[in-house]
Amino acid sequence: MSKFLIRGGNRLSGSVKVDGAKNAVLPILAASILASEGTSVIEDVPWLTDVETISEVIIALGAEVRRESETVLHVDSRNVKEWIAKESLVRRMRASFLVMGPLLARMGRARVALPGGCAIGARPVDQHIKGFQALGAEVEVGRGHVEARVKGNRLKGTRIYLDIQSVGATQNIMMAAALAEGRTIIENAAKEPEIVDLANYLNAMGASVRGAGTDVIRIDGVESLRGANHTVIPDRIQAGTFLIASAMTGGDVYVEGAISNHLKPVIAKLKEAGIQIEEDVNGIRAIGGPGNRPLDVKTLPYPGFPTDMQAQMMALLTVLPGNSLVTESVFENRFMHVAELQRMGADIKIEGRTALITGVPYLTGASVTASDLRAGAALVIAGLGAQGETEVNGLHHIDRGYLKLEDKLRTIGADIVRVE
Ligand code: EPZ
Repeated sequence: MSKFLIRGGNRLSGSVKVDGAKNAVLPILAASILASEGTSVIEDVPWLTDVETISEVIIALGAEVRRESETVLHVDSRNVKEWIAKESLVRRMRASFLVMGPLLARMGRARVALPGGCAIGARPVDQHIKGFQALGAEVEVGRGHVEARVKGNRLKGTRIYLDIQSVGATQNIMMAAALAEGRTIIENAAKEPEIVDLANYLNAMGASVRGAGTDVIRIDGVESLRGANHTVIPDRIQAGTFLIASAMTGGDVYVEGAISNHLKPVIAKLKEAGIQIEEDVNGIRAIGGPGNRPLDVKTLPYPGFPTDMQAQMMALLTVLPGNSLVTESVFENRFMHVAELQRMGADIKIEGRTALITGVPYLTGASVTASDLRAGAALVIAGLGAQGETEVNGLHHIDRGYLKLEDKLRTIGADIVRVE
């Protein structure tokens, strides 16, 4: 098993370029199978293990996916014939469940393994199912998968109110509604930038999606969709991770390609802590750190503080003076990084969904293990600021969402190597 060896203490400085957003690419590749004509060229695609997995899922359904360069994918889904997604692939990556909506819309039926839970929570799909049923599908859950079948010959537009502002459910319903007969209105929809990016790709394919990014999305179904060209938005979570890594080391890092409008709550909290942030049209610069004031952070659906930045921010809070609070309101079990940070000397107490962090002068290097993608990023950040050497295990989690993380960090001065 490979691991990172990090020698803490180097101040990070210089410029690092952010990749395309993993959480935009995954739904967009799922949506690409809606195209019964033409082909799609998707640019700024980070070739992560999760992106490989979703590519394998749509290839197994009959699509052709060709990597034209490091970051350009060519997708031809004219010959998609299968309506059953490969169980082993769906179980490997739960976001594969996003093919359910497109399959149902294009093939009239779909069977996808229940993605099941993961380290951070049970991750139910009840809102996705509620949406498919509202669109006129018969849905059966059992034997480890969800099977849906359109009653009649086409999904019918309808009004759907989401009980939870679920990113995945909003995306799955939007993709299914794109080929439905008539208008669908999704209320209490999720508003993440990745939803807007998916809507832009669907509209480029000939769909009619309005209101993405607000909590009411209107989709007027069309007869068919054709492949389109699309450049994926930059990864706001990767960008935020680099800003916090800089702050952890008192560094001066420019994150090229980051869109500050996608990171408002993270930037606001870093400024509140006392970090100097400069924003321009090409990126965001973080200067100084780790900060001199404690923070109260609560994760919320967009535009609130992103749950995917919670662990990374907590790593920084461990060395901010005073008492900070972190409340995780999106997932029920997203504090696994706490025990690992405590091994590095952090003073953290958990009360239900809230963690109380009492700042310590510095963390000390230790051997720690990532439990999920963002917890892994948090442990790397902690290691960069710690005294001594930190060993981060569980890199398969980190490689799912961060492309060549150690190379990027080394270019801005980190002392980090990957060892087998
Ligand atoms: C997406 O997951 C992201 N993944 C997650 O990023 C991110 O943490 C999450 O949105 C929240 O922002 C991708 O985009 C591939 P949700 P998703 O449906 O769509 C509950 C990462 O690190 N819920 O918005 O699965 C659910 O249990 C990953 O890149 C239901 O109860 O998230 C959770 O508590 C981790 N029923 C909350 O809603 C449902 O039918 C938010 O989940 C669906 C969700």
